[in-house]
Amino acid sequence: MTIRPIRLGVNIDHVATLRNARGSAYPDPVRAALVAQDSGADGITAHLREDRRHIIDSDIDRLMAAIAVPLNFEMAATTEMQAIALRHRPHAVCLVPEKREERTTEGGLDVASDCNRLADFVASLSAAGSRVSLFIGHDPRQIDAAVRVGAPVVELHTGQYCDLVAEGKAEKAALELAALMQGARLAHSAGLEVHAGHGLSFSTVSPFAAMQEIAELNIGHFLVSEAVFMGLGPAIAEMRRLMDAARI
Ligand code: PXP
Repeated sequence: MTIRPIRLGVNIDHVATLRNARGSAYPDPVRAALVAQDSGADGITAHLREDRRHIIDSDIDRLMAAIAVPLNFEMAATTEMQAIALRHRPHAVCLVPEKREERTTEGGLDVASDCNRLADFVASLSAAGSRVSLFIGHDPRQIDAAVRVGAPVVELHTGQYCDLVAEGKAEKAALELAALMQGARLAHSAGLEVHAGHGLSFSTVSPFAAMQEIAELNIGHFLVSEAVFMGLGPAIAEMRRLMDAARI
């Protein structure tokens, strides 16, 4: 069996959260991105939210100028964000649902109910050279819709699984994991590149890293949290080690 490599995208949003908490210039998310790329990250992910609660516009300018690995620009499907993405032409764009009142991205996109509008976003961003992914749940209807709107990539939302593990609900977690794996297989067999992410930690990453259908994991909050105790570079290196160990 050929083992397909798996990429680690490090999300640096919450370095910016900490910076913004005091209105200081530090900790600098661009410095974190440089540490990440030296510590085993294959790419950097940053989510420019409508309310700019963590990453701000100048962070995107500076990231584009500073990093050598690809930038995955997460954004809501709004005309404001589309204009910013078209100006920067990042390597990748991940379209996510966004609600002002949520603490984090709570669910996946409802692609099936918004096909025409999302197809326009996928077409314009793809034409600008960005590889577009859609952040969705494991529902086969959403996977089918992602194919229909012409997205080359889907990212499966692992947040619910991670929450169930944290709450000690082992049976429900096993069911959610099985559904995510089924979704990954379905998306892969439909010709989509499959990514996964949200809420992943040292204790939840392995089953996703082991799945040959998954090509990339995007991980942020846990790594930035663990950086407080062990340092950002070592936390990323340990995540990389766990992913590689699970892949074999
Ligand atoms: N993937 C997507 C699409 C996300 O929106 C997020 C959170 O910004 C992540 C991955 C990373 O989630 P976490 O910060 O919980 O690791």
